Amino acid sequence: MKKGNMLIKNSSELVTCSGNKAKFGKDMSDINVILDGAVVIEDGIIKDVGTTEDILKKYDETKYETIDAKNKCVLPGFVDSHTHFIFGGYRAEEFSWRLRGDSYMEIMNRGGGIVNTVTSTRNASKEELFNLGKKRLDSMLSFGVTTVEGKSGYGLNYETEMKQLEVMKELDKEHAVDICRTFLGAHAVPDEYKGRTDEYIDFMLEKILPEVAKNKLADFFDVFCEQGVFSVEESRKMFLKAKEYGMKLKIHADEIVQLGGSELAAELGMVSADHLLHASDKGIKDMAEKGVVSTLLPTTAFCLKEPFARGRFMIDNGCAVALATDFNPGSGFTNSIPLMFALATIYMNMSIEEAITAMTINGAAAIDRADSIGSIDIGKKGDIVILEYPSYKFLPYNTGVNTVEKVIKNGVLVHKN
Ligand code: NIG
Ligand code: FE
Repeated sequence: MKKGNMLIKNSSELVTCSGNKAKFGKDMSDINVILDGAVVIEDGIIKDVGTTEDILKKYDETKYETIDAKNKCVLPGFVDSHTHFIFGGYRAEEFSWRLRGDSYMEIMNRGGGIVNTVTSTRNASKEELFNLGKKRLDSMLSFGVTTVEGKSGYGLNYETEMKQLEVMKELDKEHAVDICRTFLGAHAVPDEYKGRTDEYIDFMLEKILPEVAKNKLADFFDVFCEQGVFSVEESRKMFLKAKEYGMKLKIHADEIVQLGGSELAAELGMVSADHLLHASDKGIKDMAEKGVVSTLLPTTAFCLKEPFARGRFMIDNGCAVALATDFNPGSGFTNSIPLMFALATIYMNMSIEEAITAMTINGAAAIDRADSIGSIDIGKKGDIVILEYPSYKFLPYNTGVNTVEKVIKNGVLVHKN
């Protein structure tokens, strides 16, 4: 990817979200706003940040591609730290059944859900998945997302799990959006192993995981720990094996039923635990204590007509909350950052500042990249979003509407709305 030299000046509000690790509890309110701010990027990396007056004294703007951000708010590029964006086929029919009253689990139990997408992803060629992925990344970029996490989990066999991860690796090289890859071989039990969960687990751990690790195809290992999918005991066994292979851990926890996934995340010191709609008080406190990032996915709760995760309670109890879209073909077919932001602030009672932290520095922490992205700090990647409006307060106010005007990746202007 190209790396640029850029100077952005005169920003009415330059929101830095400064920091190089997750922000917990009260610290989530601290987004650090520089009025009339400027930022200098050299060779793709942030070189300096300050007021426009100070920056223009130190740097000759004619040496940079300069953007005048007068009356515009400038923020770090957003990090969407939980998605399943590589998949074949769609499940619009299932969504219509859910609107009629069928639950996600009922549909799954009668052969729909994840395994439905597994069939269409197995049938899709690498090229098809690549082209679909590229289109989806373009759309994410238009919402200001400069780094995304993407999971496998629609293969559930050797060939297609590899295919998904390889497609993401290629897209990472070709597309402006950076991709963090997660191996989710434990997303469901495929039809050919129906009723033989233990055998599938052994197959996945013995035949796929070692290859994924050896070829460095994923940074993270994830499990859908849920009643009727993988139990806490089964999940623990898989996580311990993945840890032996040096993989970092994240988990789909307590999404539909309170099973104890958040407690397991704390016990194993995972990087992040995600969904958490039904996380217990103890699970929440354990995660805060052990420094596990709580990744909340409000668009999924919304699309499933489930209660939202207790974001307010989590922050009040010292958690580091991240927000992500969970973009996928089933439980929430949306990559909308504005919708996610609106739900978090209007329905989950997160403040605007907390929601911004949750999709910048805490999103970065949820994929263990807070040292290189997620804030406008010297030494970090020059990943920047410029809004059409003068204040970050327009993010929820222009409700459900994309307010992003320009997106800069590694100091290069890569998108204009
Ligand atoms: O995060 N809960 C499990 N996995 C996805 C849904 C995947 C699907 O329905 O295809 C989620 O919601
Ligand atoms: Fe998910």
